Amino acid sequence: MNLLRQKIEQELRERGPIPFSHYMELCLYDPELGYYSRNAEQFGKAGDFYTSSDVHAVFGRLLARQFDEMWRALGSPERVELVELGPGRGLFAQDVLDWSEKKFPEFFQALHYVLIERSPALCARIKETLAYRIESGKAELATLDAPEIGNTSWPTAAAKRRKNAADGASRGFSEEPTQVPEERKKTPSDDTQPPGAPTIFFANEFFDALPVEILSAKGSLCVDARDGRFVETWVQPSPEELEFLDRYSIHPEPDERVEATLVAYKTMDRVAAGIQRGFLLAIDYGYTREEQLAGRHRGTLKALRQHSVSASPYEAPGEQDITADVNFTALAAAAEKHGMLTHKLITQSQFLLGIGEANQFADAFEECRLPQERAKVALQLKHLVTPAGMGESFQALIGSKGVEREEAAALAGLNFGHKPTLSR
Ligand SMILES: C[S@@+](CC[C@H](N)C(=O)[O-])C[C@H]1O[C@@H](n2cnc3c(N)ncnc32)[C@H](O)[C@@H]1O
Repeated sequence: MNLLRQKIEQELRERGPIPFSHYMELCLYDPELGYYSRNAEQFGKAGDFYTSSDVHAVFGRLLARQFDEMWRALGSPERVELVELGPGRGLFAQDVLDWSEKKFPEFFQALHYVLIERSPALCARIKETLAYRIESGKAELATLDAPEIGNTSWPTAAAKRRKNAADGASRGFSEEPTQVPEERKKTPSDDTQPPGAPTIFFANEFFDALPVEILSAKGSLCVDARDGRFVETWVQPSPEELEFLDRYSIHPEPDERVEATLVAYKTMDRVAAGIQRGFLLAIDYGYTREEQLAGRHRGTLKALRQHSVSASPYEAPGEQDITADVNFTALAAAAEKHGMLTHKLITQSQFLLGIGEANQFADAFEECRLPQERAKVALQLKHLVTPAGMGESFQALIGSKGVEREEAAALAGLNFGHKPTLSR
């Protein structure tokens, strides 16, 4: 018996159909029964999917090298905040901290690592993994103090509710903010940050895990229940959804679905607003508006379970991951709104090769003593960079603010095989 299904059905009985984003929100982040809230076993071989940090520590090590270079581009300040959004189990943070301590001691000295994780189960895991770093004050666990981020009370839902009320329909739903665990709440421009301390925001596979709206020629998708099954109904899209499609996406053709990634947009908007000086780096699978105009990435929502794509997001709520490709055009626009300079989108392959080529990926092979160990690590590295692995499907968006254009564009990760390019 699926308890989350019962809970959602109960909500539907009491309040009527809910926007798809709210359904996705409940499936992933219901405080007790949501996919990410209830356990920390989603990742790796025994879980449902791999992320780059699960493949090998070299991902974090190469990124530590890139963060050190960013820190130097910022003028080697006495303190720099590295803020990771959605760190999952904290493996990436562990790799970055360990490698920075060993290889980039000056950067490590300045580094303060903040992990912003929403899932109580994953927060508990992070506290174990990084116990020593948290105790020493080098790392800190926090949550975004943003009621509109990643929960049901963001404006599109409110706009829909207002519209439904005007239509005489009853489909209001809770505006209770997401339950925040005991960690202190944090805003991106938190006042514990020393004045002028620059920030580097990092997010790997974070934006693809945020709830989306789904639109088709029939309207905006809502979820209802009938005869013990979830069913799809459609309402008129909100002005905000339509504006999002106009600006950053495309309008769906008949029989097509497209996602409006409004929560991701608003999250980036908020993050970028908090950066006075620094960088942001978002790595994810996704697309640009141009690619959509060329006919690709229309309807990217998928459910994942035990390393295979499951047929429907309505099966086994809370037991499977639900994810949608990231709209990088929208993310870049949200960052640029706050004066950030965004650099040309590059593949994970180009990005990692750019960082690792100077020393022939010594970061990967340093601890290998035997030829078999080298061969194993070479395979893992190959998985991170080749098209058959994660190299071409994942892309890196880099933004900078308060850094000389040329200096930011000269970052190693942006310069594999071509000269620095700026999007504006
Ligand atoms: C697909 S996982 C990626 C985990 C990790 N970055 C990695 O690469 O292994 C997405 C993570 O984002 C977290 N998350 C989603 N929404 C969040 C929010 N509003 N604030 C903090 N964390 C959030 C989830 O709990 C989950 O840990």
